[in-house]
Amino acid sequence: MSGPLVLGIETSCDETGVGIVRGHTLLADSVASSVDEHARFGGVVPEVASRAHLEAMVPTIERACETAGVRLHDIDAIAVTSGPGLAGALLVGVAAAKALAIGLAKPIYGVNHLAAHVAVDQLEHGPLPQPCLALLVSGGHSSLLRVGDVTGPERGVQLLGSTIDDAAGEAFDKVARLLALPFPGGPHIDRAARDGHVTIDFPRGLTTRRDLERHRFDFSFSGLKTAVARWVESQQRGGVVIDVADVAASFQEAVCDVLVRKALDAATDQGIEHVVIAGGVAANSRLRAMAAERAEAHGIRVRIPRPGLCTDNGAMVAALGAELVTRGRAPSSLDLPADSSQPVTEVVV
Ligand code: KG4
Ligand code: ZN
Repeated sequence: MSGPLVLGIETSCDETGVGIVRGHTLLADSVASSVDEHARFGGVVPEVASRAHLEAMVPTIERACETAGVRLHDIDAIAVTSGPGLAGALLVGVAAAKALAIGLAKPIYGVNHLAAHVAVDQLEHGPLPQPCLALLVSGGHSSLLRVGDVTGPERGVQLLGSTIDDAAGEAFDKVARLLALPFPGGPHIDRAARDGHVTIDFPRGLTTRRDLERHRFDFSFSGLKTAVARWVESQQRGGVVIDVADVAASFQEAVCDVLVRKALDAATDQGIEHVVIAGGVAANSRLRAMAAERAEAHGIRVRIPRPGLCTDNGAMVAALGAELVTRGRAPSSLDLPADSSQPVTEVVV
């Protein structure tokens, strides 16, 4: 095992994640989730998330150190998600990271949550090919990125396209709600769809020839969500009992079809052979299978971290931190801000 020993802290949404890596080797990935506290509200309540981070932070750090078999004094650097995310939630992580950096006299790196989602793949599949095309799909984002260098020197991460309305994960969560499935809906739709068939031809947003002229690499999922809602309503009006599994499978197929189609089109257009799929929605079993199948036909290689590393965690932050240290990038200043709308092109603050 070689490389810097880095502790990463993630608190951008409802998961308190603390990960420890040595270079590309994962040593610990402790996550405390407050998702159960939000479930009855049908979405993440920012104040509840912030308080839960505060309570979980110290025990989660202790658990990570214990699992990794390291002492805090052994750590070479601290990395923390500085944005994007919920402002109050981010502040808890940033404050904790600053306290550790000062207490241990170690450098601190305030890093981008989205770049970290991509960087975590290095822990499983080795160094990221340069360049690679990243399809980043989470609860708050759906983007296509050209990643020349995930540590983000000038033009290291370029945005090719993104959602013009709902993010892919948001669409999963909203459609799950329509189908009376629990929050967060993605995993529940994934599971329900396994027993269903693709029986309904739901719309594929921004894929007509006219849309492609202006929005070739952008996504739109709000029309799909509305189409599902209308379909469910019309069935219910007709007194038909809805087959949740079939609706879930049909909706999931429409989302995955657009995501995979556009990712492969972008990779081909950019002349890039490697696609990395990252973010919570990358845990989706149909997306993983479809991407693998179709990529092969295009002569493109796909890398997707294992599902547990796709959803928010601290290991991804540590992975990006370790890469920054390895490449000799300058650390952040101790007054680094939590930036709830940090752009994806800004990898380190
Ligand atoms: O990356 P992530 O954990 O948090 C954000 O940065 O947003 O992504 C969370 C999103 C949620 O919308 C959740 O429903 C979705 O990822 N998700 C899934 C699956 N697992 C999580 N969506 C589809 N299929 C899954 N298996
Ligand atoms: Zn995320």
